[in-house]
Amino acid sequence: MGRNYLIAGNWKMNSGSGKTAPFFNELAKIIGDVPGQVEMLICPPFVSLNEAANAAKAIPGMHIGAQNLHFENDGAYTGEISAVMLKDAGCSHVIIGHSERREYFGEAEQVIGKKIAKALENGLTPVVCVGEVLDQRKSGDHFTVVETQTRGALAGFGDAEIAKIVIAYEPVWAIGTGETASPDQAQEMHAFIRKVLTEITGKEVASGIRILYGGSMKPDNAAELLAQTDVDGGLIGGASLKPDSYAAIVQAATKLI
Ligand code: PGA
Repeated sequence: MGRNYLIAGNWKMNSGSGKTAPFFNELAKIIGDVPGQVEMLICPPFVSLNEAANAAKAIPGMHIGAQNLHFENDGAYTGEISAVMLKDAGCSHVIIGHSERREYFGEAEQVIGKKIAKALENGLTPVVCVGEVLDQRKSGDHFTVVETQTRGALAGFGDAEIAKIVIAYEPVWAIGTGETASPDQAQEMHAFIRKVLTEITGKEVASGIRILYGGSMKPDNAAELLAQTDVDGGLIGGASLKPDSYAAIVQAATKLI
């Protein structure tokens, strides 16, 4: 079976409106031919989603996603954004349960499950993040932590729903630190997540679920990480802010097709 990648950029709270269209315009110039098996996704801040969705039309295979959503469609939730609004703004994907949301905004399992449900109900692809912190890896608890997060996030969903979900394994100690999981460490955890998914949904569904790696993925380590059997793409923070480094990672995936 040929490879099939999703190269996702998470801009976090960076690159506001003034930088959005220029990013896509520059990317369109340098990206070249990207095969259908390499899908692209950029997740800018909420305020830039519209602009990004318009600019992205010039790049075949480019999708736009949000970094978070609320678990209701509308209502008195000051400061929040719903799945319906994200769809209207041109999103096809949404990141859910990023470790920064878990750590700084107290997002826990139950809320993450509700957000996944709302995303699916509105036709958005959830990119669900899991990953251990450094102490948990040092103490050897990383597999248990990731299994608990994965099972918790997917609890209550049927196979057809789970088949639409993307998982992103992001070891928290590798996010924004310049320290990357080695290709072996990434493959070991991705294979483990695939095993857990197989137990939850069966082999057929589990083998089709994309498991992205995130945590200091850069042009110089992307090829090695993406070459791993169970690494189906990347969730890229810092290196997705510049068109040239993002394009280099997309091109690394393209060479592996
Ligand atoms: P990073 O961030 O690539 O800057 O480490 C990844 C992420 O948090 O999604």
